[in-house]
Amino acid sequence: MKGLAKESKHRILILGASGFLGGAIYRELCSYFKTFGTYNTSNKLHEKNKHFFQYNIEEDDVYEILEIVKPTIIISAVRGDFSAQVIAHQHLAEYVFTNKIKLIFISSANVFDAYSKYPSYETDKTLSNSIYGHFKIKIENMLLRMPKKQIVILRLPMVFGAQSPRILEIQGHIKEKEPIEVFPNLIMNVTNDFKLTQQVHYIINRNKSGVFHLGSSDLVHHDDFIKEIIASFELNNKTVTYKNVYTTNDDRYLAVLPKYNLLPKHLQLTSQQILSELKL
Ligand SMILES: NC(=O)c1ccc[n+]([C@@H]2O[C@H](COP(=O)([O-])OP(=O)(O)OC[C@H]3O[C@@H](n4cnc5c(N)ncnc54)[C@H](OP(=O)(O)O)[C@@H]3O)[C@@H](O)[C@H]2O)c1
Repeated sequence: MKGLAKESKHRILILGASGFLGGAIYRELCSYFKTFGTYNTSNKLHEKNKHFFQYNIEEDDVYEILEIVKPTIIISAVRGDFSAQVIAHQHLAEYVFTNKIKLIFISSANVFDAYSKYPSYETDKTLSNSIYGHFKIKIENMLLRMPKKQIVILRLPMVFGAQSPRILEIQGHIKEKEPIEVFPNLIMNVTNDFKLTQQVHYIINRNKSGVFHLGSSDLVHHDDFIKEIIASFELNNKTVTYKNVYTTNDDRYLAVLPKYNLLPKHLQLTSQQILSELKL
């Protein structure tokens, strides 16, 4: 596959390539495309890598990196101050529009967190009660005004992978003998980094665009799923305690299901697959 990177037509810039999802996407794409990434926290590994640029969304102008990398695809997987993110995405959108390139934005199931009674589909109207959801909607709406072919919005539910911050946090709580918070009323779908990176690769290869709901095809209760994950750890008799958190009296859905923009079968997944892959 080595030759492919040179032949490939794309130059890809991943904002947040030092993070959990940005890093996983970088590792998936870097042997096939000329792939570049940004990191925020100083560290030797990234400083030495010529494909990585230090970038702080609150302080730096993203144009400088765009001018150097001249990407044909930008993937946004950053965190950081919300209003700084909105401004940076305005700049990205202008660059994408002017240069006729493509932007892949990682959004979240939280754009629907004000709806609690049903799972959500791609064309449903977004509505959120949370600051996080509001700001994702703001960026999504900005992008949805752009030519459809140039925009990909990936709405993700909670992502669980062996190295995901969520799993590492659970392991930390177990080690410190602290209770693990679970939400018994929350019905959700889930995904993992492994499937997400394959989905992104496919979307790039097939030049797909639009809004994608990238969650498992089945729904799980948050508490059941977390308990199943923990059951797969080798705990050597360590005891685990749970703290039930009830945010509403009734069941509440936070699930993004696909209906219109479907990916092929091998790129869909079930919650059981996520649990099996965690055991490997
Ligand atoms: N993980 C999930 O379950 C999930 C679910 C739905 C949506 N998402 C979305 O996916 C995206 C990536 O999430 P993640 O879980 O991979 O996050 P993460 O592991 O925390 O990575 C965040 C990335 O953003 C960078 N970053 C943080 N603060 C920054 C700042 N001030 N300026 C510039 N860069 C900054 C980090 O750089 P350093 O590490 O170098 O500081 C890192 O590369 C986010 O937009 C998130 O909303 C995640």
